[in-house]
Amino acid sequence: MSELTATEKEKAKKYYPLPKLAEKARIKSMDAYFKKWKYSVEHMEEFWADEAKKLDFFTPYEKVWQPPTGRNDEFVGKWFVGGKLNATYNCLDRWVEKGYGDEVALIWMGEDDTVKKFTYKSLMEEVNKAANALKSLGVKKGDRVCLWLPMVDSLAIIMLACARIGAIHSIVFGGFSAESVKDRIDDSACKILVVADEVRRAGKPRPMKNSLKGVIETCDSIEYVAIIKLTGGEVYQYEKDVDFLALMEQQSTECKSEPMDAEDPLFILYTSGTTGKPKGVVHTTAGYLVYGISSNYYVWDYSCLLDLKGDTPATRDVWYCTADIGWITGHTEIIYSPLALGAISVMYEGIPTWPHGGRFWEICEKFGVTHFYTAPTAIRALKKLGDENVTKWDLSKLKMLGTVGEVCNWPEWKWYWDVVGKGTSGDKPVGRPIVDSYWQTETGSYMMVNLGAITPMKPGSCTFPFFGIHPILLDEDGNKVTKPNTQAYFTYDLSWPGLMRTVWNDHPRFVNTYLTRFPGYYVTGDYALIDDEGYYFILGRSDDVIKVSGHRLGSAEVEAAINSHPKVVESAVIPYPHSVKGSTIFAYITLMNDDEASEELKKDIQNHVRSVAGPAVYPEVIMFAGAVPKTRSGKIMRRILKAVAEQKDIGNTMTLANPEVVEELIARRKMMGEIKF
Ligand code: WTA
Repeated sequence: MSELTATEKEKAKKYYPLPKLAEKARIKSMDAYFKKWKYSVEHMEEFWADEAKKLDFFTPYEKVWQPPTGRNDEFVGKWFVGGKLNATYNCLDRWVEKGYGDEVALIWMGEDDTVKKFTYKSLMEEVNKAANALKSLGVKKGDRVCLWLPMVDSLAIIMLACARIGAIHSIVFGGFSAESVKDRIDDSACKILVVADEVRRAGKPRPMKNSLKGVIETCDSIEYVAIIKLTGGEVYQYEKDVDFLALMEQQSTECKSEPMDAEDPLFILYTSGTTGKPKGVVHTTAGYLVYGISSNYYVWDYSCLLDLKGDTPATRDVWYCTADIGWITGHTEIIYSPLALGAISVMYEGIPTWPHGGRFWEICEKFGVTHFYTAPTAIRALKKLGDENVTKWDLSKLKMLGTVGEVCNWPEWKWYWDVVGKGTSGDKPVGRPIVDSYWQTETGSYMMVNLGAITPMKPGSCTFPFFGIHPILLDEDGNKVTKPNTQAYFTYDLSWPGLMRTVWNDHPRFVNTYLTRFPGYYVTGDYALIDDEGYYFILGRSDDVIKVSGHRLGSAEVEAAINSHPKVVESAVIPYPHSVKGSTIFAYITLMNDDEASEELKKDIQNHVRSVAGPAVYPEVIMFAGAVPKTRSGKIMRRILKAVAEQKDIGNTMTLANPEVVEELIARRKMMGEIKF
């Protein structure tokens, strides 16, 4: 038997969670899961009413669900209509009021090993000080506050402070540029920008505030720039600057939480789409929270204060999600869901590979992490560094592992299973479960996911829908696809509370992006298939979204950054396979003057893009092209560009307006030789 066949066989096997996990699980068997899932989609209002009991409302809701109006411009309808509640109250105060104020809520660790352990009470007090400080700057319910910060404790504190007073936070990932911050501030007219003086990154200070020079001055809606002094480095002064940490110190530790309507926005998070600028995904207060905590509760089974009835917790699990709060995963999985359940959440400031390649595992040992959640790109990077970086740490407390953001492919899956999870091999391999959670910024929390303790896993599969989720596969013409192993558009036909409600300031864009292609369905933008046992596999995007190291980028934004270089006429970017990042950006660029093509110009364009769009956006491979293939309506044919880049069969070029360019592209690509990452 050839080696490949042996691997293929192993890969096709089912992998089982350690049996003892099921004993304490909230859902104890697959039969119980299927039964509850069936109930959840057939009696969705009753199901979600039950789940909403996990939250504390100030005023009870009158109606679980109000269906959409019938026009095809909404999908979700309204959830928990008339209810009043506050997200921060649910994350903090209620645990203090129930006598758990001294229990640990958040463990924050800095790059330099500083550890801050916040209890529910001490975190609440910090949040209250920040809330009062925001109020003193004139922030009121409904105002927008932009946070552009590295992974420091202030980020967690200020986002919860916003939620406390009903201000809508819009968090921008630290790896984006000042220009991207400006676009997002302008789009939602933020009153305040919170920013750090500098970022600590791999032992060195990197500029943050300074990059805003000349940019922030053009943001008309900004009334104050709240500075978080992290390094105390020299930064330029702007007349609207306020030293926010100093201001916080003058504030009271008490602040009433604002009763918010269930459907009031909790936050805006900008994400990339197919066209144009990023869109402001709007999540609501009750629906987002109910969905987040319900999914975390059943998937992971970690112990939480929610289950206690005044008794002292015997032991508490420790949850560690390695995402950045600048992305949806950080919002839902570091802050809102774990705290609203009363868990212990670990937050780390730095990168996984500094000061050494075992940093994640060191953190797991140090804090006794029981549940560890990361991205496939991080697993690939750590796998490359060698097993000894993992094995030298005591990971015996770990109960469950998880991934999010892209498909967890076999090589990284198997390494995670063997080396981190210490799973067995053989006919019926058993080990620490790997939760493969499929979801999106838009969906608030997991859509497709295995219940860690009980679901038999298939590597690369996000398995089955979460409760209340009704996935549908559709073909080009909108017909349902039920045949196994057939690629199809991945959609949903049933509302659930955690789905985004709109695009900030642009409801038509929400409708056009998600609801128009197949009326009556929410369209994810992914392709998927179902196998003959009903397991779902995600096959990648059906649109122009690119994932680089799990970071979601839109081709249109990257192209806009490239096109702003003075020597560029036009560009087209596509994802190109990368062994750590998953994909990297391959850019086809047409110059004003093709004779100027040179390696120096490539570097210059790369630097330009970095400065315009931020370090997260990097066109790693550049190929100069006389023109790019387009359809007669002017749409770039990315399918062909992908095939050319990967030197694969280009297929049919009949629909092109300019088929002649393809030959030239193939020739130019050939000249670049092998490109392997
Ligand atoms: C992809 C991240 C396969 C998918 C929470 C989706 C995945 C996009 C998985 C959303 C997974 C996320 N398996 N693909 N487990 N999880 N994706 O908005 O293409 O940053 O549409 O949200 O990531 O990315 P976003």
